[in-house]
Amino acid sequence: MRYKALRPLLFRLDPERAHRGALAAVGLLEALFSTLRWAPRPWSHPLLAQRLWGVDFANPVGLAAGFDKNAAAPHVWPLFGFGFAELGTVTALAQSGNPPPRLFRLTADAALINRLGFNSAGAAAVSARLATLTARLAPVVPLGINLGKSRVTPLEAAAGDYVEGVRQLAGFASYLALNVSSPNTPGLRDLQEEARLRPLLEAVQAANAAAVRPPRPVLLKVAPDLSDDALGAIVALARSAGVAGFVATNTTVARPGLRTRIDEAGGLSGEPLRDRATAVVRVLRRHAGPDLPIVGVGGVASGADAYAKIRAGASLVQVYTGMIYEGPWLARRIAVDLAALLERDGLRLPEAVGRDA
Ligand code: FNR
Repeated sequence: MRYKALRPLLFRLDPERAHRGALAAVGLLEALFSTLRWAPRPWSHPLLAQRLWGVDFANPVGLAAGFDKNAAAPHVWPLFGFGFAELGTVTALAQSGNPPPRLFRLTADAALINRLGFNSAGAAAVSARLATLTARLAPVVPLGINLGKSRVTPLEAAAGDYVEGVRQLAGFASYLALNVSSPNTPGLRDLQEEARLRPLLEAVQAANAAAVRPPRPVLLKVAPDLSDDALGAIVALARSAGVAGFVATNTTVARPGLRTRIDEAGGLSGEPLRDRATAVVRVLRRHAGPDLPIVGVGGVASGADAYAKIRAGASLVQVYTGMIYEGPWLARRIAVDLAALLERDGLRLPEAVGRDA
């Protein structure tokens, strides 16, 4: 059955319930692959292959953080075409997040608003799950692990939470993403300020070097609501603190031109975020140059959307909301269409990155 036919039925379910159903389904597949000690490979194409931070990516389309927060299905994502997956956000302590309802569909806008507030099994539990799963079968695609701060931890002690995440999870990660940009944990985005970000990065890098060899590339996930000047300052600081790249962007607290009449607090994702996220990629690329790779995320729902992020400066892209509206095979479709666009322009992926920056 085509997803477009199934969608009205799915959209009758409460959004979080639909998400739990999807996780249960991929969890069953994970159990099956684990039993078989076999997992599918992602869709690949010679024009899409890329090595970043010493890690090989068969294609540049990844699962964005927030869909698989607790490593439900690390071996399953390539089945749907994903070339990598970012698990998390994982908080140091287990926590249930904000009270429901906390996830809303804006169907006329192909968008979502969420204020989940980091519902997480916690670093120890996610680490134990990944230990079990990866002992049976090595991951097939690179796994990023996205780390955040527990709600009960005061902002002044935030570094300790990220350090705990690094200690528990760096060993399973191809890269680490520090989430300092979710709008749903009070004060979290203040960690993007230089006076807080510098000591945080220093603590994380020290823990990273102590926890794993080689230390994992540390990426910073930024908000789309920062000014261009603030983004420039973050690039300068990131460079001096040994940050390896950026994930741009998280959800926005802005409500740009929505068709849906809705007044809910939280982060907006999907199509209304797309162009702002692309603009942030471009600003970061202009400041950072080619040596700090960027993961472009926000409103990607087609090969053309992915290509625009790449030409603005992204080496990788990620998808979340688009998959809710376009179905589970969206990543594969994006990868196929992207390969065709690159072929049309006579470019390999790395040659397209930042062409329009
Ligand atoms: C998210 N996102 C997110 N990001 C993050 O760093 N940690 C998280 O836990 C979550 N959780 C989360 C839940 C839900 C329901 C949504 C819709 C999004 C943000 C996500 O990774 C991405 O940055 C934005 O959603 C923009 O991409 P899309 O959704 O427009 O493709």
